[in-house]
Amino acid sequence: MNHLLKMSDLSTEEIIDILNLADQLKYEKKHSIPHPLLKGKTLGMIFEKASTRTRVSFEAGIYQLGGQGLFLSAAELQMGRGEPIQDTARTLSRYIDGIMIRTYKQEDVEKLAQFAGIPVINGLTDYAHPCQVLADLMTIREYKNKLEGLKMCHIGDGNNMANSLTVGCLKVGMDVTLACPDGYHPDPDVLDFVKDYPNFKIVSEPMKAAEDCDVLITDVWSSMGMESEVEERRVAFKGYQINHELLKHAKPDAIVLHCLPAKREEEITSAVLEEFSNVIFDEAENRLHAQKAVMVKLMGSDK
Ligand code: CP
Ligand code: NVA
Repeated sequence: MNHLLKMSDLSTEEIIDILNLADQLKYEKKHSIPHPLLKGKTLGMIFEKASTRTRVSFEAGIYQLGGQGLFLSAAELQMGRGEPIQDTARTLSRYIDGIMIRTYKQEDVEKLAQFAGIPVINGLTDYAHPCQVLADLMTIREYKNKLEGLKMCHIGDGNNMANSLTVGCLKVGMDVTLACPDGYHPDPDVLDFVKDYPNFKIVSEPMKAAEDCDVLITDVWSSMGMESEVEERRVAFKGYQINHELLKHAKPDAIVLHCLPAKREEEITSAVLEEFSNVIFDEAENRLHAQKAVMVKLMGSDK
């Protein structure tokens, strides 16, 4: 593992290794056991889109590992004035030890990785959000004590989260059902990936997807960059909501996850979000531990 660009880059074994290390780092942090595994290392963090969780968890995470983070707003880098990504990649590689990037196009992240001589971590693109999915798997395992055999449904847009959750959950042996309206299905690459998985389904009815589920997940109807489609999406996604009526179809001990930020009363009701706030904010916390594990695996000396 040289980079983390998308979930399909990881084997099942690599995913479980990351989750195990994340659990260990969480334990060490909780018990104030120092873990300076990336002492003296620098992570550059390029942001072309807004962020609360990703930015703060990476910056705090690298610091807790003994290194330092550099926040690099894409608009203020020469990249923002058109310097090619391959030149940015080769330049940054001379100064720092790893790059996390949040941007629009997956191909930009792939190109950055191709030209950087250092590990690249995808902190979200229009196509993928692997760091979030590792934190989600970590959270599911904490609450359910296993992953294999659990049923997960995702209600709503076939976006970056649905793409990465589908691949990640299938890889660890979970059943996946997506409820998406027509025209909002996941990426063709992901639809190709699922061909080998009979335990994957897409339906149009949220209630059918929720049937007997252990884990229900949703995400905003309009992701970052889709601001001009907000009104049209409000119409298309009406009814694609996690609410108490929908939860009646899931297992009685089902949990609800949301990567946040959430739009209350759109993809999730405020009542459900608050009822599952312990899980959802554990999920947000686990971004820190899961990403520390990813950084150690990619940037550590014994990788
Ligand atoms: N879930 C997530 O990636 O949050 P941010 O957009 O705040 O980083
Ligand atoms: N799908 C959302 C996720 C935010 C963390 C977006 O891309 O805006």
